[in-house]
Amino acid sequence: MIRTVQAGSFLRGVVQCPGDKSISHRYAMLAALARGESEIRNFAGSQDCRSTLRCLGGLGVKIRVGEEAIHISGGGIHGLQAPAGPLDAGNSGTTLRLLSGILAGQPFQSVLAGDESLSRRPMGRIIQPLSLMGARIESEEGGLPPLRIHGGSLRGIRYALPVASAQVKSCILFAGLYAKGTTSVEEKVVTRDHTEIALTQFGATIRRQENWIEVEPEPDLRALRLDVPADLSGAAFFMVAAALVPGSDVLLPGVGLNPTRRILIDYLSGAGVNVSLENESNRAGEARGDLRIRYNPDLLGKRLPPIRAELVAALIDEIPVLSILGSQAGGLEISDARELRIKESDRIAAICSNLRAMGAELEEHPDGLAVVGGQRLRGADIETLGDHRIAMAFTVAGLVADGQTRVHRAECADVSFPGFYEALAGLRRPD
Ligand code: S3P
Repeated sequence: MIRTVQAGSFLRGVVQCPGDKSISHRYAMLAALARGESEIRNFAGSQDCRSTLRCLGGLGVKIRVGEEAIHISGGGIHGLQAPAGPLDAGNSGTTLRLLSGILAGQPFQSVLAGDESLSRRPMGRIIQPLSLMGARIESEEGGLPPLRIHGGSLRGIRYALPVASAQVKSCILFAGLYAKGTTSVEEKVVTRDHTEIALTQFGATIRRQENWIEVEPEPDLRALRLDVPADLSGAAFFMVAAALVPGSDVLLPGVGLNPTRRILIDYLSGAGVNVSLENESNRAGEARGDLRIRYNPDLLGKRLPPIRAELVAALIDEIPVLSILGSQAGGLEISDARELRIKESDRIAAICSNLRAMGAELEEHPDGLAVVGGQRLRGADIETLGDHRIAMAFTVAGLVADGQTRVHRAECADVSFPGFYEALAGLRRPD
């Protein structure tokens, strides 16, 4: 499907962003391993989280999806059943990588597969530590999905993560629930810690000592009532849009403000974006609050702070839309971001080719890009490659471009943000 977008009016109003995708995956998986029925409100309706539910269903977990909440009945960490066929993770790397950790500890075989994009993404990063723990995993050449996981008795390992990845960290911690002895993971760069928080809430024993995270096996996980905060990574598109479109004033209620993710807010404020925060609270260890973003013309001349290693891990999903912001503010340099090349698409290439199609000047590097600031973009055909964050980032670009922007395969936004285009349309007023 092609969506067209053009400049034309300020953005005003309220957007209720979907439930946080990362947190929803983790709550669903842990609820499936807990004893009893968990209730999860504001669970992400995104395709990725539906993939997690589908896979859990394939493992015999009872799930009821209601209007306000989903209910998941688990039978304890040993309560999963052997699947009748391959489990389909769709487009979702988080589903495939996190679930692999759980499946590595099961006394049965399972096959985890994904769509065309996921089938090109490297799984060696989880196969290696899970094999050290004693699992046997077969993959396609180069460590690509589908994965055939022969689960079994695992042993705890001490493992230093070779890449800054919350997915790999979480995979190992989940496998650690089934291991003999303690499992420890070292991360040199801090990544999102939703797994650690959720494990604690469900009743696992988990400790952080400096850069090491340790988990103890065989916990008796208890069912919980939970409420997922709105997704900050989805909110980011509206934050940048409101920052760039003159006259805008947008409120984003109940957005997740976990310290490992809210770096985005500090980054944007530091860059001159007018962001304010109200009604901060904390539920089940996850902070949340209402964000309000108002247009600020002073932003436009300012160079954005460079994004390097530590910031890359914290802003990994926001880089596409921050690149658009950089092209309108005073420029942006991104380095140490090779990981972006192996996301749902090669995001460095996708950002560069689409910005160029809009007439922007920039340099592409193997590990990042440098975009020149203060550029007048022109409407163009955007090749999203079916990547949700590219589709939404370039829809935002279209709001400040001359003429019409045509976003191809636009429906991929549903992977993380169903209703994205409708929410944006709801904020627009005629000039
Ligand atoms: C995620 C971690 C990040 C992020 C992805 C979600 C998670 O991936 O890009 O969208 O929920 O753990 P990596 O861990 O591969 O960096």
